[in-house]
Amino acid sequence: MKDKFYITTPIYYTNAKPHIGHAYTTIACDVLARANRLQGKETFFLTGTDEHGAKIEKKAKEDGIEPQKFVDGFAQIFQDLWRALNISNDGFIRTTMPAHKLAVQKVLQTLHDNGSIYKGSYKGLYCVGCEQFKSENELVDGKCPDHNAAPEEMEEECYLMKMNKWQETLISRIKSDEFKIQPERYKKEILSFLENEKLEDVSISRKNLKWGIPLPFDSQHTTYVWIDAFLNYITGLVWDGETEKLKAKSKKLKFWPADVQMLGKDILRVHGTIWAATLLNLEIDLPKSFFIHGHILSGGKKMSKTLGNVIGIDQMLEKFGVDGTRYLLLSGGTFGDDLDLTMERMSEKFNADLANGLGNLVSRVIKLASQDNFQFPISNSQSISNDKILNFINEFNFDGALEYINGLVKESNKFIEDNKPWELAKNDEEKFKEVMQKLLLDLEIIATLLLPFMPETSEKIKLALETRIVQPLFQRIK
Ligand code: MSP
Repeated sequence: MKDKFYITTPIYYTNAKPHIGHAYTTIACDVLARANRLQGKETFFLTGTDEHGAKIEKKAKEDGIEPQKFVDGFAQIFQDLWRALNISNDGFIRTTMPAHKLAVQKVLQTLHDNGSIYKGSYKGLYCVGCEQFKSENELVDGKCPDHNAAPEEMEEECYLMKMNKWQETLISRIKSDEFKIQPERYKKEILSFLENEKLEDVSISRKNLKWGIPLPFDSQHTTYVWIDAFLNYITGLVWDGETEKLKAKSKKLKFWPADVQMLGKDILRVHGTIWAATLLNLEIDLPKSFFIHGHILSGGKKMSKTLGNVIGIDQMLEKFGVDGTRYLLLSGGTFGDDLDLTMERMSEKFNADLANGLGNLVSRVIKLASQDNFQFPISNSQSISNDKILNFINEFNFDGALEYINGLVKESNKFIEDNKPWELAKNDEEKFKEVMQKLLLDLEIIATLLLPFMPETSEKIKLALETRIVQPLFQRIK
């Protein structure tokens, strides 16, 4: 079998429209998926929507819409956005799909049968925004810092999943990188949590919540939304919940374990503990790695409607287009760190790098090359090596890759200034040809290197090289 590569995004809650944080993660995964396909690996890229739970039930009720209809609308909006952003996902999983629900029930039955789940009760502070119980020390002034709301006191009969016996296993697998957590500081963060706090058994069901998957062994309870959601990472490969089938690795199930699970920093702990323990309880392989990224801030602050600093993904698409948006989200800072954006700074960067830089280079070179009396063969782009860029991408160094490409664009623009081919065309045919050969090759190289990041622009440059027709790639923004 060819080498395989399986990458997942978190699945997004369908209680509101997608925002740039969702687009950011999904674009990063798309670049990784495209780069791995270019490396000849059999690739599967999964994304989807997380559609059950109290948060969604509550919002649907407020809007007076039946929950299924409510989530259908948002799931469609997510899929439309991914098409618009040129996301090359191979699967799209919705947790309300009948096959997913049946698989989740089968898994829960297995966990119940093997003694990993038992009946009890749980008392704690529940944050509906996080859909998680919070410990006192996670709160700031009695509120969840992520949702700025006080969690509800909750005590109810529930089923619990055993966690504690996996504490040492998790520590050793993470330490040895068998279960790799990147960047390094997040590995340290989860290790410090696992080394200092006892893993408590977790409640995996809700008694008073209708909008969820009923437990197969007690229909009065629905499945805790995170357990339901985690399982998407395997049901999305068309898994019916039978553990044995995973071991046989037939069809798409060969893709498990995932090579990279991309996660925002707020959901590392829940994945590193509950998701990992669920897999261990089922005797299923842990994912090979998690990559944890930071959050997008706007003008140094968390985006919020109250502050009026929300940057909408529609707004970005309208202003910068698809490839402009993809470029600006991945070139704005080190992937992994928080990313601070403003529309003003992004507009400046768009003009500098894309309109004046790349766009200008392409139109100048194609215009010069389209002169009838000169014939320039284009080289065979198969021979262009993109190893350098693929290495950057394999290291999650997206801004490094784009900076490198941008450097080539600048050099090439400078080469034009230095050699003034429009003058050579009039008085030194030989030299003109030589200069143009180099410039055309530069464009081919740039188009090849840009492919995972800006697939449409890459295609447009290649087409312009073939047809010698100039079409502006990026219009300057005022
Ligand atoms: N449904 C859960 C995940 C279940 S995965 C089995 C969830 N959904 S979410 O829609 O709230 O968030 C999805 C992802 O978006 C998370 O990785 C989160 O970190 C990320 N982001 C949310 N806000 C963000 C920013 N402002 N910036 C970057 N990413 C952000 O959690």
